[in-house]
Formats: sequence, C-alpha cells, structure tokens
Amino acid sequence: MPHPKRGSSTLISGFMNALKPSSRLEVPASTPPYSRKFASSATFLPTTSLVGKVAVVTGSSRSTGAAVARCLGEHGASVVVNFVTDSQSAEEVVQAIRSNGKGGAIAVKANTATVEGGQLLLDEAMRTFGRIDILVLNAGVMGSKTLAEMDEGFFDVCFETNVKVPLFMAKAAARLLPAPGGRIIFFSSSLTSASTVLPNALCYLATKGAIEQVSRVLAKDLGSKGITVNTVSPGPIDTPLFREGKSQHVIDSIAKQNPMKRLAEPDDVAPIVAFLASEAGHWVNGTEYQSRWGEWFRLTSY
Ligand SMILES: NC(=O)c1ccc[n+]([C@@H]2O[C@H](COP(=O)([O-])OP(=O)(O)OC[C@H]3O[C@@H](n4cnc5c(N)ncnc54)[C@H](OP(=O)(O)O)[C@@H]3O)[C@@H](O)[C@H]2O)c1
Repeated sequence: MPHPKRGSSTLISGFMNALKPSSRLEVPASTPPYSRKFASSATFLPTTSLVGKVAVVTGSSRSTGAAVARCLGEHGASVVVNFVTDSQSAEEVVQAIRSNGKGGAIAVKANTATVEGGQLLLDEAMRTFGRIDILVLNAGVMGSKTLAEMDEGFFDVCFETNVKVPLFMAKAAARLLPAPGGRIIFFSSSLTSASTVLPNALCYLATKGAIEQVSRVLAKDLGSKGITVNTVSPGPIDTPLFREGKSQHVIDSIAKQNPMKRLAEPDDVAPIVAFLASEAGHWVNGTEYQSRWGEWFRLTSY
C-alpha cells in the first residue's frame, strides 16, 4: 500500500510500506558524539563504529554509492539505499547490509534529480528509522558535452542533480541531523583541480566546483552546531559514469597513470566516507578529501 501522500514512491521492501511511526525499525543505541568531556574519560575513545547511526546515501543501488552503503552498513549503520531505475540492484545492496551489518536497511525509489525526490528520500528515512545521522550526497550525472554541444536542458539537468538537489537535501537534513554529531558528505571530483581536463567536461566540472564551494561554506554554518560537512573528491573509479563516452584505449591509458596500474574500484573509495561519517572523524570539518592516483590527501580551507 503506497504512502497516501506519496503515490509514486516505491519502498521496495513491501512490509515497510505499512510501517507507522509507532512501528519504526529499532536502531541500536549508539555512542554519544565525541567531545572533550569524553576525551578525558578512560571509557570512551573516538571510534569508526557506526552502530546506532542511520545513513541516507543518494544513488546507492550500484557503483560508488552502493559500495558506500555497504561499507556504512558493515560499520554498523542502518542504511537507506536509494535508486531511481534499478530496483533489483538496490534490493541486493539492502540484503547485503542486512546479512553483514548490525543495522537495518531499506531501498527507496526516489529521483534525486528533483528537490521533491530528495525530500521524499529523507521522509522515508525518518518514517522508517525515526532519525538521520549521516547524509551522503553521492548521486551525480556527468554527461559529456563541449560548449558547442551543450544546451540549456543539459545544463539544467547537471546543475539540478549535482548542485541544487544536494544543497536542498542538506538544507532539509540540517533540521533533522543530531547537533552535535550530524554528518553531511558531498561528492566532487579530483578533476576540479587537474591541469588536464577534456573540453566536454565543462558542465560536469562547473557543477563539481559549485558543490565544493557549497560544502566549504556549509561547514562554517552547520559546523557551529557540531554538524560536520566535508567533500570526497575521487579520481577515476571504474563505473558506468566514468566509462560513458570513453574508448577502451582511453580507459586503459587513464588506468596506467595510477601507480597501482588500475582504476579505483568503488570499494576503494567507500572507507573514507565511513571515516568521515564516524566519531573518529568528529574533528574533520570543511575539508575535501581528494584522490587522484590511489592516495587520499586532504585539502583544507580556512
Ligand atoms: N566514477 C568516477 O570516475 C568518479 C570520479 C570522481 C567523482 N565521481 C562522483 O562520484 C559519484 C558517484 O559516481 P559513480 O561513478 O558511482 O556514478 P554512477 O555509476 O552513474 O552511479 C549509478 C548510481 O546512481 C544512481 N542514480 C543516478 N541518477 C540518480 C537519480 N537521479 N536519483 C537517484 N539515484 C540515481 C543509480 O541508480 P539506478 O541504479 O536506479 O539507476 C545508481 O545507483 C558522483 O557524484 C560522481 O560525480 C565519480
């Protein structure tokens, strides 16, 4: 039975649809947010455990988002897995989290290229788990169009998916996340600071530059409440988004530039998100973790 106000939403796990606030999924008790008070206690150390936390990961049925969702689940979080077309892959991620993790998982169909879709995802997370601790804004589109090829429609889709919706989801989540203790993690790309970029990356990199600035400024705003805001900017990851429009020759030559002689896999990227989401990352705010050829380094702004 679909939610009465959200007829188009599909919550995969059928029994979830009948959940009422009083029958929310139980989330195990978590450690409190880290503070100097706890630092002086012999009984509490900052940890990468996410037991008791609830994470929402946009675009997490496949590729990088799926690896992030599974990794957060392995660290103990309950995870809201988001998809737009591939319900089967989303359900596989949910099952992996339920069988390996300590928390629960649900799959939610929501198009995070629209503000309404983003809001629906947060609403379903609250309805099912009653809280949100971690918001990972992973979903993005690349497209590949030069200045001559691009039109207004393409520009709008890129900016709505990669900038507008993540920004408005952060705005909506800021009222829901624990303060202190909430986490927002944006996704950019190492290409924003690369000297060699292809002309057809114009729109993509304009959006990623924009979201880095959104993240930098929000870190100052929400940081004052103890909600950290950071950006993960991976180098090339072997996903459909990366492969789109590239010949195998180009892909191979990019892979060879990495000292490890391969592209990153989604699972290579996920652990940095889990760290930033955890209590161990409590003092990391307003930073960008960037990886070009297999190493993470931290860009900090003041
Ligand atoms: N791949 C790279 O080399 C690379 C490098 C640097 C940064 N990044 C960034 O990392 C992030 C993830 O990239 P990726 O390569 O993993 O992307 P991807 O392969 O295109 O990711 C596919 C996933 O995103 C979901 N998705 C796509 N559009 C969506 C929408 N409108 N609403 C909800 N879900 C949506 C898909 O859902 P369905 O399964 O339902 O279709 C699927 O789960 C992006 O922000 C990207 O810019 C990627």
